[in-house]
Amino acid sequence: MTPTLYWKDGFVEMLDQTRLPTAVVYQTCKDADTVARGIKELWVRGAPAIGVAAAMGMALGAQGLPEGREFQQGLERIGAMLISQRPTAVNLAWAVRRMQAFARSLEGQPVAAVKAAMVAESQRMLEEDAAICRAIGKAGAHLLPDGGVLTHCNAGALATGGYGTALGVIRAAVEAGRALAVFADETRPVLQGARLTAWELMQDGIDVTLITDNMAAHTMKCGRIHAVVVGADRIAKNGDAANKIGTYGVAILAREHGIPFYVAAPLSTVDFSMASGAEIPIEERDGREITHVFGTTQIAPDGCKTFNPAFDVTPAKYIRAIITERGAVAPADLHRLQDPDLDATPWLVK
Ligand code: MRU
Repeated sequence: MTPTLYWKDGFVEMLDQTRLPTAVVYQTCKDADTVARGIKELWVRGAPAIGVAAAMGMALGAQGLPEGREFQQGLERIGAMLISQRPTAVNLAWAVRRMQAFARSLEGQPVAAVKAAMVAESQRMLEEDAAICRAIGKAGAHLLPDGGVLTHCNAGALATGGYGTALGVIRAAVEAGRALAVFADETRPVLQGARLTAWELMQDGIDVTLITDNMAAHTMKCGRIHAVVVGADRIAKNGDAANKIGTYGVAILAREHGIPFYVAAPLSTVDFSMASGAEIPIEERDGREITHVFGTTQIAPDGCKTFNPAFDVTPAKYIRAIITERGAVAPADLHRLQDPDLDATPWLVK
Protein backbone atom coordinates (compact mmCIF):
# COMPACT_ATOMS: atom_id res chain seq x y z
CA MET A 1 0.00 0.00 0.00
CA THR A 2 1.06 3.59 -0.55
CA PRO A 3 1.71 4.90 2.99
CA THR A 4 -0.40 7.82 4.15
CA LEU A 5 2.35 9.38 6.25
CA TYR A 6 5.71 8.45 7.71
CA TRP A 7 8.85 9.86 9.33
CA LYS A 8 11.88 10.47 7.14
CA ASP A 9 15.10 12.23 8.19
CA GLY A 10 13.39 13.93 11.13
CA PHE A 11 10.45 15.24 9.08
CA VAL A 12 6.97 13.96 8.30
CA GLU A 13 6.22 12.87 4.74
CA MET A 14 2.50 13.26 4.09
CA LEU A 15 0.78 11.78 1.02
CA ASP A 16 -1.09 14.68 -0.60
CA GLN A 17 -4.48 13.01 -1.07
CA THR A 18 -5.85 16.02 -2.95
CA ARG A 19 -3.64 14.93 -5.85
CA LEU A 20 -4.94 11.36 -6.01
CA PRO A 21 -5.70 9.40 -8.11
CA THR A 22 -3.74 11.04 -10.92
CA ALA A 23 -0.51 11.78 -9.01
CA VAL A 24 1.22 10.25 -6.00
CA VAL A 25 2.90 13.24 -4.36
CA TYR A 26 4.27 13.58 -0.83
CA GLN A 27 4.48 16.89 1.04
CA THR A 28 7.38 17.23 3.46
CA CYS A 29 6.21 18.71 6.77
CA LYS A 30 9.10 20.29 8.65
CA ASP A 31 7.02 21.87 11.41
CA ALA A 32 3.69 21.61 13.20
CA ASP A 33 2.22 24.50 11.17
CA THR A 34 2.70 22.56 7.93
CA VAL A 35 1.08 19.49 9.48
CA ALA A 36 -1.85 21.72 10.51
CA ARG A 37 -2.10 23.03 6.96
CA GLY A 38 -2.08 19.46 5.64
CA ILE A 39 -4.96 18.56 7.97
CA LYS A 40 -6.98 21.66 7.03
CA GLU A 41 -6.38 21.35 3.29
CA LEU A 42 -7.06 17.58 3.27
CA TRP A 43 -3.61 16.40 2.22
CA VAL A 44 -4.30 13.97 5.03
CA ARG A 45 -7.89 13.14 5.92
CA GLY A 46 -9.94 10.45 7.61
CA ALA A 47 -10.41 10.47 11.38
CA PRO A 48 -7.66 8.02 12.45
CA ALA A 49 -5.14 9.41 9.95
CA ILE A 50 -5.60 12.99 11.10
CA GLY A 51 -5.14 11.74 14.67
CA VAL A 52 -1.80 10.17 13.74
CA ALA A 53 -0.84 13.29 11.74
CA ALA A 54 -1.60 15.46 14.78
CA ALA A 55 0.55 13.18 16.97
CA MET A 56 3.40 13.59 14.50
CA GLY A 57 2.73 17.35 14.41
CA MET A 58 3.07 17.43 18.20
CA ALA A 59 6.38 15.58 18.00
CA LEU A 60 7.62 17.91 15.24
CA GLY A 61 6.51 21.01 17.18
CA ALA A 62 8.21 19.73 20.33
CA GLN A 63 11.61 19.73 18.60
CA GLY A 64 11.78 23.55 18.65
CA LEU A 65 10.62 24.04 22.25
CA PRO A 66 12.90 25.14 25.10
CA GLU A 67 13.35 23.22 28.35
CA GLY A 68 11.31 23.65 31.52
CA ARG A 69 7.80 24.99 32.05
CA GLU A 70 7.81 26.51 28.56
CA PHE A 71 8.06 23.02 27.08
CA GLN A 72 4.66 21.92 28.45
CA GLN A 73 3.16 25.33 27.68
CA GLY A 74 4.42 25.07 24.11
CA LEU A 75 2.81 21.64 23.77
CA GLU A 76 -0.49 23.11 25.00
CA ARG A 77 -0.29 25.85 22.38
CA ILE A 78 0.65 23.54 19.49
CA GLY A 79 -2.05 21.05 20.53
CA ALA A 80 -4.76 23.71 20.54
CA MET A 81 -3.60 24.92 17.13
CA LEU A 82 -3.74 21.39 15.66
CA ILE A 83 -7.13 20.57 17.21
CA SER A 84 -8.66 23.76 15.78
CA GLN A 85 -8.06 22.64 12.17
CA ARG A 86 -11.03 20.25 11.97
CA PRO A 87 -13.73 20.01 14.66
CA THR A 88 -15.69 16.82 13.91
CA ALA A 89 -13.23 13.92 14.07
CA VAL A 90 -12.57 13.32 17.76
CA ASN A 91 -9.38 11.36 16.97
CA LEU A 92 -7.60 14.66 16.43
CA ALA A 93 -8.08 15.89 20.00
CA TRP A 94 -7.66 12.34 21.33
CA ALA A 95 -4.21 12.05 19.71
CA VAL A 96 -3.08 15.50 20.85
CA ARG A 97 -4.10 14.76 24.45
CA ARG A 98 -2.37 11.41 24.34
CA MET A 99 0.87 13.08 23.20
CA GLN A 100 0.56 15.77 25.89
CA ALA A 101 0.00 13.16 28.59
CA PHE A 102 2.91 11.13 27.24
CA ALA A 103 5.24 14.16 27.44
CA ARG A 104 4.04 14.91 30.98
CA SER A 105 4.77 11.33 31.99
CA LEU A 106 8.43 11.91 31.01
CA GLU A 107 8.84 15.11 33.02
CA GLY A 108 12.22 15.19 34.74
CA GLN A 109 14.04 13.44 31.87
CA PRO A 110 16.46 15.44 29.67
CA VAL A 111 14.44 17.43 27.13
CA ALA A 112 16.32 15.86 24.20
CA ALA A 113 15.21 12.41 25.38
CA VAL A 114 11.59 13.59 25.68
CA LYS A 115 11.69 14.99 22.15
CA ALA A 116 13.05 11.73 20.73
CA ALA A 117 10.51 9.73 22.71
CA MET A 118 7.67 11.83 21.29
CA VAL A 119 8.75 11.00 17.75
CA ALA A 120 8.83 7.30 18.67
CA GLU A 121 5.41 7.55 20.35
CA SER A 122 3.81 9.09 17.26
CA GLN A 123 5.31 6.30 15.15
CA ARG A 124 3.88 3.78 17.64
CA MET A 125 0.44 5.39 17.23
CA LEU A 126 0.67 4.88 13.47
CA GLU A 127 1.53 1.20 13.91
CA GLU A 128 -1.10 0.73 16.61
CA ASP A 129 -3.72 2.23 14.33
CA ALA A 130 -2.91 -0.21 11.53
CA ALA A 131 -3.13 -3.10 14.01
CA ILE A 132 -6.47 -1.81 15.33
CA CYS A 133 -7.81 -1.65 11.78
CA ARG A 134 -6.87 -5.28 11.25
CA ALA A 135 -8.73 -6.17 14.47
CA ILE A 136 -11.77 -4.21 13.24
CA GLY A 137 -11.60 -6.13 9.98
CA LYS A 138 -11.48 -9.44 11.83
CA ALA A 139 -14.36 -8.40 14.09
CA GLY A 140 -16.63 -7.45 11.19
CA ALA A 141 -15.75 -9.72 8.27
CA HIS A 142 -18.44 -12.28 9.16
CA LEU A 143 -21.14 -9.62 8.87
CA LEU A 144 -20.67 -9.15 5.12
CA PRO A 145 -22.44 -11.77 3.01
CA ASP A 146 -21.38 -12.63 -0.54
CA GLY A 147 -22.71 -9.92 -2.83
CA GLY A 148 -22.80 -6.15 -3.10
CA VAL A 149 -21.41 -3.87 -0.37
CA LEU A 150 -21.89 -0.13 -0.55
CA THR A 151 -19.47 2.26 1.11
CA HIS A 152 -19.42 6.04 1.31
CA CYS A 153 -16.38 8.35 1.39
CA ASN A 154 -13.02 6.70 2.09
CA ALA A 155 -12.48 4.78 5.31
CA GLY A 156 -9.56 2.82 3.97
CA ALA A 157 -5.80 2.53 4.39
CA LEU A 158 -5.53 6.13 3.19
CA ALA A 159 -7.72 7.32 6.06
CA THR A 160 -5.87 5.35 8.76
CA GLY A 161 -2.48 3.99 9.75
CA GLY A 162 -3.14 1.24 7.19
CA TYR A 163 -5.75 -1.39 6.13
CA GLY A 164 -8.74 0.84 6.93
CA THR A 165 -11.87 0.61 9.05
CA ALA A 166 -14.84 0.13 6.68
CA LEU A 167 -12.45 -0.99 3.95
CA GLY A 168 -10.65 -3.08 6.58
CA VAL A 169 -13.88 -5.04 7.10
CA ILE A 170 -14.20 -5.40 3.34
CA ARG A 171 -10.55 -6.48 3.00
CA ALA A 172 -10.90 -9.03 5.80
CA ALA A 173 -14.07 -10.47 4.25
CA VAL A 174 -12.33 -10.80 0.89
CA GLU A 175 -9.32 -12.43 2.60
CA ALA A 176 -11.77 -14.88 4.22
CA GLY A 177 -12.94 -15.88 0.75
CA ARG A 178 -16.13 -13.85 0.48
CA ALA A 179 -17.15 -12.87 -3.07
CA LEU A 180 -17.79 -9.14 -2.69
CA ALA A 181 -18.73 -6.56 -5.25
CA VAL A 182 -17.99 -3.18 -3.68
CA PHE A 183 -19.97 -0.12 -4.74
CA ALA A 184 -18.26 3.19 -3.96
CA ASP A 185 -20.37 6.35 -3.71
CA GLU A 186 -18.40 9.12 -5.41
CA THR A 187 -18.97 11.33 -2.29
CA ARG A 188 -19.61 14.89 -3.36
CA PRO A 189 -18.17 17.44 -2.98
CA VAL A 190 -14.57 16.31 -2.34
CA LEU A 191 -14.99 12.96 -4.14
CA GLN A 192 -13.20 10.74 -1.64
CA GLY A 193 -15.16 7.75 -2.98
CA ALA A 194 -14.21 8.27 -6.61
CA ARG A 195 -10.67 9.49 -6.10
CA LEU A 196 -9.59 7.45 -3.09
CA THR A 197 -11.80 4.41 -2.40
CA ALA A 198 -11.95 3.31 -6.03
CA TRP A 199 -8.17 3.84 -6.38
CA GLU A 200 -7.31 2.03 -3.17
CA LEU A 201 -9.51 -1.01 -3.87
CA MET A 202 -8.38 -1.27 -7.48
CA GLN A 203 -4.77 -1.30 -6.29
CA ASP A 204 -5.65 -4.30 -4.11
CA GLY A 205 -7.50 -6.06 -6.92
CA ILE A 206 -10.83 -5.85 -5.04
CA ASP A 207 -13.88 -5.61 -7.29
CA VAL A 208 -15.20 -2.02 -7.12
CA THR A 209 -17.84 -0.15 -9.08
CA LEU A 210 -18.16 3.61 -8.84
CA ILE A 211 -21.59 5.24 -8.63
CA THR A 212 -22.57 8.85 -8.06
CA ASP A 213 -24.22 9.60 -4.72
CA ASN A 214 -27.68 9.97 -6.27
CA MET A 215 -27.52 6.43 -7.70
CA ALA A 216 -27.46 4.68 -4.31
CA ALA A 217 -31.25 4.34 -3.98
CA HIS A 218 -31.67 2.90 -7.46
CA THR A 219 -28.74 0.52 -7.00
CA MET A 220 -30.31 -0.77 -3.78
CA LYS A 221 -33.70 -1.12 -5.43
CA CYS A 222 -32.12 -3.18 -8.21
CA GLY A 223 -31.05 -5.70 -5.53
CA ARG A 224 -27.35 -5.11 -6.05
CA ILE A 225 -26.51 -4.04 -2.47
CA HIS A 226 -26.61 -6.57 0.40
CA ALA A 227 -24.84 -4.56 3.12
CA VAL A 228 -23.54 -1.06 3.75
CA VAL A 229 -20.36 -0.38 5.72
CA VAL A 230 -18.98 3.08 6.45
CA GLY A 231 -16.46 4.68 8.80
CA ALA A 232 -17.05 7.37 11.41
CA ASP A 233 -15.51 10.61 12.60
CA ARG A 234 -17.13 10.68 16.02
CA ILE A 235 -19.61 8.34 17.67
CA ALA A 236 -21.63 9.49 20.66
CA LYS A 237 -22.24 7.26 23.68
CA ASN A 238 -25.73 6.32 22.41
CA GLY A 239 -24.33 5.11 19.08
CA ASP A 240 -25.26 8.12 16.91
CA ALA A 241 -22.42 8.33 14.39
CA ALA A 242 -21.01 11.31 12.52
CA ASN A 243 -19.46 10.51 9.16
CA LYS A 244 -18.99 12.12 5.76
CA ILE A 245 -21.93 14.19 4.51
CA GLY A 246 -24.39 11.91 2.75
CA THR A 247 -23.95 8.96 5.10
CA TYR A 248 -27.23 9.72 6.90
CA GLY A 249 -29.13 9.55 3.61
CA VAL A 250 -27.50 6.23 2.75
CA ALA A 251 -28.55 4.84 6.17
CA ILE A 252 -32.18 5.84 5.59
CA LEU A 253 -32.10 4.26 2.14
CA ALA A 254 -30.63 1.07 3.58
CA ARG A 255 -33.43 0.88 6.17
CA GLU A 256 -36.07 1.40 3.49
CA HIS A 257 -34.60 -1.45 1.44
CA GLY A 258 -34.04 -3.81 4.39
CA ILE A 259 -30.25 -3.70 3.99
CA PRO A 260 -28.04 -3.89 7.13
CA PHE A 261 -26.01 -0.73 7.77
CA TYR A 262 -22.72 -1.05 9.68
CA VAL A 263 -20.32 1.55 11.09
CA ALA A 264 -16.68 0.49 11.53
CA ALA A 265 -14.42 2.58 13.76
CA PRO A 266 -11.75 2.32 16.44
CA LEU A 267 -12.74 3.02 20.04
CA SER A 268 -10.69 6.24 19.81
CA THR A 269 -13.52 7.52 17.56
CA VAL A 270 -16.11 6.98 20.30
CA ASP A 271 -16.67 10.10 22.37
CA PHE A 272 -18.19 8.75 25.59
CA SER A 273 -18.45 12.34 26.88
CA MET A 274 -21.21 13.06 24.37
CA ALA A 275 -24.60 11.59 25.23
CA SER A 276 -25.97 11.84 21.69
CA GLY A 277 -25.08 12.93 18.19
CA ALA A 278 -26.82 16.27 18.75
CA GLU A 279 -23.67 17.40 20.59
CA ILE A 280 -21.23 16.54 17.77
CA PRO A 281 -19.77 19.67 16.14
CA ILE A 282 -20.20 19.60 12.37
CA GLU A 283 -17.45 21.17 10.29
CA GLU A 284 -18.60 23.61 7.59
CA ARG A 285 -16.19 24.09 4.73
CA ASP A 286 -15.64 26.72 2.06
CA GLY A 287 -18.56 26.95 -0.38
CA ARG A 288 -16.09 26.85 -3.24
CA GLU A 289 -15.96 23.09 -2.73
CA ILE A 290 -19.51 22.93 -4.11
CA THR A 291 -19.57 25.84 -6.57
CA HIS A 292 -16.51 24.45 -8.34
CA VAL A 293 -15.59 20.91 -9.35
CA PHE A 294 -12.48 20.21 -7.40
CA GLY A 295 -11.48 23.85 -7.18
CA THR A 296 -11.27 24.42 -10.91
CA THR A 297 -14.38 24.25 -13.11
CA GLN A 298 -17.10 26.62 -11.94
CA ILE A 299 -20.56 24.97 -11.90
CA ALA A 300 -22.67 27.58 -10.05
CA PRO A 301 -23.39 31.24 -10.76
CA ASP A 302 -21.02 33.86 -9.36
CA GLY A 303 -22.11 34.86 -5.85
CA CYS A 304 -24.41 31.83 -5.39
CA LYS A 305 -25.11 31.21 -1.68
CA THR A 306 -23.85 27.89 -0.35
CA PHE A 307 -24.16 25.60 2.66
CA ASN A 308 -21.35 23.07 2.86
CA PRO A 309 -21.46 20.83 5.96
CA ALA A 310 -18.69 18.23 5.71
CA PHE A 311 -20.38 15.63 7.93
CA ASP A 312 -23.80 14.46 9.07
CA VAL A 313 -24.98 12.33 11.96
CA THR A 314 -26.66 8.97 11.43
CA PRO A 315 -29.01 8.19 14.33
CA ALA A 316 -28.21 4.94 16.15
CA LYS A 317 -31.60 3.48 15.20
CA TYR A 318 -30.39 3.00 11.61
CA ILE A 319 -27.17 1.21 12.60
CA ARG A 320 -27.25 -2.60 12.87
CA ALA A 321 -23.83 -2.76 14.56
CA ILE A 322 -20.78 -0.69 15.35
CA ILE A 323 -17.67 -2.68 14.52
CA THR A 324 -14.71 -1.88 16.81
CA GLU A 325 -11.39 -3.55 17.56
CA ARG A 326 -13.14 -5.19 20.54
CA GLY A 327 -15.93 -6.68 18.46
CA ALA A 328 -19.16 -5.65 16.77
CA VAL A 329 -21.85 -4.37 19.12
CA ALA A 330 -25.37 -3.04 18.76
CA PRO A 331 -25.34 0.76 19.29
CA ALA A 332 -27.25 0.27 22.55
CA ASP A 333 -24.36 -1.83 23.90
CA LEU A 334 -21.60 0.55 22.85
CA HIS A 335 -21.37 2.11 26.32
CA ARG A 336 -20.27 -1.29 27.71
CA LEU A 337 -16.97 -0.97 25.82
CA GLN A 338 -16.06 2.03 27.98
CA ASP A 339 -14.83 -0.44 30.57
CA PRO A 340 -11.46 -1.71 29.28
CA ASP A 341 -11.59 -4.80 31.50
CA LEU A 342 -15.06 -5.92 30.56
CA ASP A 343 -15.45 -9.09 28.54
CA ALA A 344 -17.63 -7.88 25.70
CA THR A 345 -18.39 -11.36 24.33
CA PRO A 346 -22.04 -11.65 25.44
CA TRP A 347 -23.00 -8.54 23.50
CA LEU A 348 -21.16 -9.20 20.29
CA VAL A 349 -23.29 -9.12 17.16
CA LYS A 350 -22.98 -12.51 15.51
O1 MRU B 1 -13.43 14.88 5.23
P1 MRU B 1 -12.74 13.56 5.39
O2 MRU B 1 -12.25 12.99 4.09
O3 MRU B 1 -11.67 13.59 6.44
O4 MRU B 1 -13.87 12.58 5.92
C1 MRU B 1 -13.52 11.26 6.20
C2 MRU B 1 -14.68 10.41 6.61
O5 MRU B 1 -15.78 10.86 6.77
C3 MRU B 1 -14.35 8.98 6.93
O6 MRU B 1 -15.41 8.14 6.60
C4 MRU B 1 -14.06 8.85 8.44
O7 MRU B 1 -13.13 9.80 8.84
C5 MRU B 1 -13.58 7.50 8.80
S1 MRU B 1 -11.95 7.18 8.19
C6 MRU B 1 -11.49 5.66 8.72
